[in-house]
Amino acid sequence: MKKIGVLTSGGDAPGMNAAVRAVVRTACYLGMEVVGVRYGYKGLLEEDFIELNMRNVCDIIHRGGTKIYTARCPEFRGEEAVRKAVDVAKKNGIEGLVVVGGDGSFRGARDLSNFGLPCVAIPGTIDNDIVCTDYTIGFDTCLNTVQALVDRLRDTIESHSRCMVVEVMGARAGYLTLNAGIAVGATAILIPEIPYDIEKNVIEKIRRTASTGKHHFIVMVAEGVRFRDGITVDEIAKKIEEETGVEARSIVLGHIQRGGSPSVRDRVVASQMGHKAVHLLHEGKSNRVVVMHGETITDHDINEALEMSKTIDKDLYNCAMEISL
Ligand code: F6P
Repeated sequence: MKKIGVLTSGGDAPGMNAAVRAVVRTACYLGMEVVGVRYGYKGLLEEDFIELNMRNVCDIIHRGGTKIYTARCPEFRGEEAVRKAVDVAKKNGIEGLVVVGGDGSFRGARDLSNFGLPCVAIPGTIDNDIVCTDYTIGFDTCLNTVQALVDRLRDTIESHSRCMVVEVMGARAGYLTLNAGIAVGATAILIPEIPYDIEKNVIEKIRRTASTGKHHFIVMVAEGVRFRDGITVDEIAKKIEEETGVEARSIVLGHIQRGGSPSVRDRVVASQMGHKAVHLLHEGKSNRVVVMHGETITDHDINEALEMSKTIDKDLYNCAMEISL
């Protein structure tokens, strides 16, 4: 292989730049050229390319977001678009592609591989909701951002003896909310994977905790709860205030959670994954996804990876429930 492409796709995540840098540096080491495809699959269809080399990926490892831009590209689900992308790649001498993104992006990589463009995917999303891997690039940075923001909220709710109901990102998954909930000492945590009852899991919990002398409360709610059940953090806050008498406020943390300089963990894991992805392509592998099991970086077939199912860590959930008093 003489020339490969790299793109970032779906929601950006801190550490994507570190992955791109590692892809480029590894390719240079192995004597290959690299084309940066801007704006994900959309850029591939539109031939929106930029040359990446050893020097122009300097000074990006510490930056959040993605310097080669990203996009969600629903039209890439169709066969026509995939065929067109393969033709574009061939025309430009691109013999392999590294895709950094979530599982929607993996489907695109699988389809491209099936139509003749060897692809290796890297899991990059703050949600950590990709079934085949224990870790996705961006999760640690995002968790630390949520923790820092909620620590600030704690200062003000403690001063006013209030309750703060906080919505955390994660449209389909509660990993961010559960881990951040433990880290900030939340009284209640609601995630889409575990059935809940507001009365029992929030109101009664606040009443019981208040009876032991506590006077400020943090309730962490995954975005997926709103998507699935239609209930907002504002509605939950109103209910808490009406039923417990504790003054309550709500906040949707939103996209601020996705920004910021990547943590050490995200820089290191992203570098390892980028390095591994290029070696896989160089060895002639295709339709693979780089994953992390425990602390080990390995790879899976993308089709198999997409079939796996990930469940929330019950022990972690039970731990959170038992210590949030
Ligand atoms: O990238 C994952 C994610 O941040 C989800 O947690 C969230 O639901 C979604 O992306 C938001 O997407 P967008 O940036 O397109 O609004």
